[in-house]
Amino acid sequence: MLLEWNEQLDTGVNALDDDHRCLVLLANRIHKAAQAGEQEEVETLVLEFCAYCDDHFVMEEEYMRDIGYPNRAEHKRDHDQMLADIDNVMGKVRQNLDAASVMAEFIFVWIANHVLVIERQLAEFVRGKNASA
Ligand SMILES: [Fe+2]
Ligand SMILES: [Fe+2]
Repeated sequence: MLLEWNEQLDTGVNALDDDHRCLVLLANRIHKAAQAGEQEEVETLVLEFCAYCDDHFVMEEEYMRDIGYPNRAEHKRDHDQMLADIDNVMGKVRQNLDAASVMAEFIFVWIANHVLVIERQLAEFVRGKNASA
């Protein structure tokens, strides 16, 4: 099953929303590559995913600070944890071919939770703030 975007996930902040769409697309590509047993492709895509996350997290954390988002610390913790965990899983992927699917699963679960739950709370906060402005 692939992840799907829906407008409930839009924050209305274009730069964030564009990144989120891209991250979901990448997660789906990683998932497909792992299913097809394309080990090298998984590695390449995961590196791309991580680089994208690095930039995105910095921007999003600044944005959360600028708007005074109350769950910022918790949200940032999830970013930091994910980068630490992905490093761990990447080590396993390099040692063991079968670990590609473990990586794909990890990214999938993380992005499903992060974008669909944690980021959705941010989207709701931003929409509420805009509605009352
Ligand atoms: Fe995000
Ligand atoms: Fe985030």
